[in-house]
Amino acid sequence: MATSDIPAVDIADVRKHYGLLEALKGVDLRIEQGEFFGLLGPNGAGKSTLIGIMAGLARASSGRVRIMGHDTVSDFRRARAALGVVPQELVYDPFFSVRELLELQSGYFGLLRNGPWIDELLHVLDLTDKADANMQALSGGMKRRVLIAQALVHRPPVVVLDEPTAGVDVELRQALWRLTRKLHGEGHTIVLTTHYLEEAEALCDRIAILDHGAVCALDTKDGLLNRYPWRLLRLTLTDEHAVLPEAVSERIVDRSGCGVTLRLRKDTDNAGEVLAALFRAGVGVTDIHTEEPSLEDVFMELTGDEEAA
Ligand SMILES: Nc1ncnc2c1ncn2[C@@H]1O[C@H](COP(=O)(O)OP(=O)(O)OP(=O)(O)O)[C@@H](O)[C@H]1O
Ligand SMILES: [Mg+2]
Repeated sequence: MATSDIPAVDIADVRKHYGLLEALKGVDLRIEQGEFFGLLGPNGAGKSTLIGIMAGLARASSGRVRIMGHDTVSDFRRARAALGVVPQELVYDPFFSVRELLELQSGYFGLLRNGPWIDELLHVLDLTDKADANMQALSGGMKRRVLIAQALVHRPPVVVLDEPTAGVDVELRQALWRLTRKLHGEGHTIVLTTHYLEEAEALCDRIAILDHGAVCALDTKDGLLNRYPWRLLRLTLTDEHAVLPEAVSERIVDRSGCGVTLRLRKDTDNAGEVLAALFRAGVGVTDIHTEEPSLEDVFMELTGDEEAA
């Protein structure tokens, strides 16, 4: 396709002020077509603000955003048509039925005969039974499914999901994973915001971490994981009261009963030396297990937040 070298999302030096608060402090981000991209960050980092600007729902104080090459301000309609956004907040009109809402949304994008696609979306999202129910008669998880159907009703090339799995049950979460993977497989660009870091780790190829309105890390998932300098060594001792040599005790992050967890620097610490020190001290070990860092470890190291969620 001639347009394939155009980035799906091109964000250049975007700033957003809310009064004195600078919610975005000059964000640059380029997301290529076909990427499964994770936009992570603690509460208040500016993720939804950035998504609102991408969707043209809010104006940047300065800088610009293009969706599939279309400027979100000067070429709003085309930029908007290229994007499907699943918002974080449940906003809906209570008096419309699910189908009416999807038909209205189709009309907004000039799609007059969208019935078969609407039926397919209702089916995939397990909403067929509720097609004629009013929005106010749906549960929270069902409303969220309708928001997802709304975002996809015009088959946008770029799909942005702002915490789609917050507060949804296991079944819907798995259905969403399948759906986003399917869309990605069909060539859609996916941008996902989530506080479930294992979800980002499972789905995303590349990740940006936003903190206090600035991108503090932008890398492939593996690149991010490799940045984290630690690895964990879990030991089970024969005697829970064993006195441990300094080479071991100085690296302990957790000790309970016979279990001891040590943190080793990947570049300088050697698990063999730690074990040798234990042997020399006559401490018996019944089990050894090493653990590679997770995205959550990297996230906490980078944002300094105690909690990811
Ligand atoms: N309409 C608004 N008016 C004033 N301040 C706002 C507004 N919207 C967001 N903010 C502020 O901007 C900052 C970023 O908020 P934003 O909603 O973008 O964060 P977020 O990364 O999406 O967080 P969360 O993970 O909680 O959804 C916060 O300090 C928030 O209080
Ligand atoms: Mg948000």
